[in-house]
Amino acid sequence: MTHTPSQSLRSQNWFSGFSRDAVIHRSWIRGLTEDAFDGRPIIGICNTFSELTPCNAHFRELAQKVKDGVWQAGGVPFEFPVMSLGETNLRPTAMLFRNLASMDVEESIRGNPIDGVVLMTGCDKTTPALLMGAASCDVPAIVLSGGPMLNGHFRGQIVGSGTAVWQLTEAIAAGKMSTRDLAEAETCMARSAGHCMTMGTASTMASMVEALGVALPTNAAIPAVDSRRDVLAQIAGRRIVDMVREDMRLSKILTREAFENAIRVNGAIGGSTNAVIHLLAIAGRVGIDMTLDDWDRLGRDVPTIVDLQPSGRFLMEEFYYAGGLPVVMKRLAEEGLLHRDLLTVSGTTVWENVQHAKSYSDEVIRPLSKPLVSSGGIAVLRGNLAPDGAVLKPSAASPHLLRHTGKAVVFENIEHYHERINDPALDVDENSVLVLKNCGPRGYPGMAEVGNMGLPPKLLKAGITDMIRISDARMSGTAYGTVVLHCCPEAAVGGPLALVQDGDTIELDVENRKLHLAVDDAELEKRRKSWQPAKAPSGGYGRLYHDHVMQANLGADLDFLQGCRGNAVGRPSH
Ligand code: FES
Repeated sequence: MTHTPSQSLRSQNWFSGFSRDAVIHRSWIRGLTEDAFDGRPIIGICNTFSELTPCNAHFRELAQKVKDGVWQAGGVPFEFPVMSLGETNLRPTAMLFRNLASMDVEESIRGNPIDGVVLMTGCDKTTPALLMGAASCDVPAIVLSGGPMLNGHFRGQIVGSGTAVWQLTEAIAAGKMSTRDLAEAETCMARSAGHCMTMGTASTMASMVEALGVALPTNAAIPAVDSRRDVLAQIAGRRIVDMVREDMRLSKILTREAFENAIRVNGAIGGSTNAVIHLLAIAGRVGIDMTLDDWDRLGRDVPTIVDLQPSGRFLMEEFYYAGGLPVVMKRLAEEGLLHRDLLTVSGTTVWENVQHAKSYSDEVIRPLSKPLVSSGGIAVLRGNLAPDGAVLKPSAASPHLLRHTGKAVVFENIEHYHERINDPALDVDENSVLVLKNCGPRGYPGMAEVGNMGLPPKLLKAGITDMIRISDARMSGTAYGTVVLHCCPEAAVGGPLALVQDGDTIELDVENRKLHLAVDDAELEKRRKSWQPAKAPSGGYGRLYHDHVMQANLGADLDFLQGCRGNAVGRPSH
């Protein structure tokens, strides 16, 4: 194959000519390959491999498949690491570092001779972090998810990672399970390489990138260990080379309509509430003015048709065998719920990608006429407790609690919750409303997934399985319950949540999107006078984050990272 050097490739700004810098750029690369200088597209493979991120621990092998594809299509691959965000180990919470990782991605792409990039994502925050960083550079990019784990099995039952943890620990608290059995169950959940196989945040985001058109069709559901995942990686490698030649940059795909499709798909799959924050942040990077109201408006009439845990019964493996996301998108498109003509990274439109999809199980992917939940989109609540909005996932909630009035039982922060929740004398019953403060983006730096706080053990023992819980926190996409999350503004910046006290009456009315604290304004004003902001961290990334993180309704990005800064290097190197 012959290659004609092209000045239009960014990599040629590094590699062409005989300036001293060009000699330096080429000379060191020659130790790896002689093929990078003749005008072939240079493809970065942005790899979030880490053994501390078990969900992404198989990425070295997967990256090799991408490289094979890049070579086959006449490109030259260069793999590079970026900060990996493992949900299970990283403290205080992986979300604290989503924006930091996105900076790593953005600067790694912009600062290097990269013409296009494959973003290798898996565990929850890796997907938004990489897409946010790449979007701020606006290079041709394709997202390749690592794929979900195979189903977990415990004593004849399938167990979903994450979801089972909540169920099993509730069984322990209710005195219905021994720690010995729990230890056995623990060994049954991570059966293979891959990320959580429930419709948690990782599977949701893998679906979101497919719905946005920045990942190839079938990206979301192929199990990590299925050979089709390797083939998909190879195709992604081939395709990104063509995308460079076509100058198909992210801004051509990440349009407002693409986000609208993703919001609708999220309702149909019963996706994670975390997708709200991540999509708002990604939209912010490409200058699309998307709001919580878009989520409510577009998701309101979308039925949840995918019967996966935590909303339903099955897991990602069954979802793949049933036909995966293309079936869901085809069903939505046939009902006029998707924009069909949008361009995707495959080079074809949304409709061209899904029109031939076939369902192999109407139990796992239901027809729209027989949904799991008829109005499955994320509900956006407003009222004096959340003037800038709060969210609730109807498909994971208890229908009888969607309209409820109860007395608040208040926890000032997560430590206070842990101190009080096991107390048999805690004044709480099943009609109470548990309120947790100071767990928002700034309050618990990173906005921890603690919003689905466990119920008081004395109520679990009495057979109560759900109560209304309200906080400024997030919850794991694998979790469930009637849980109001992301109250904005958060308590730590003086939002009304900070003013709630034990015994206050709270009214929730999901149908009318209302969240009301029945305390008069004069009393709230009195309480506000004694409110004190928490101390800021003294330095480091924690201080940068504290000073610049935006509220959840704006995507919790750092304010100075919003927008697309393009891929031109700020100061020419020669
Ligand atoms: Fe990584 Fe769930 S812990 S996806």
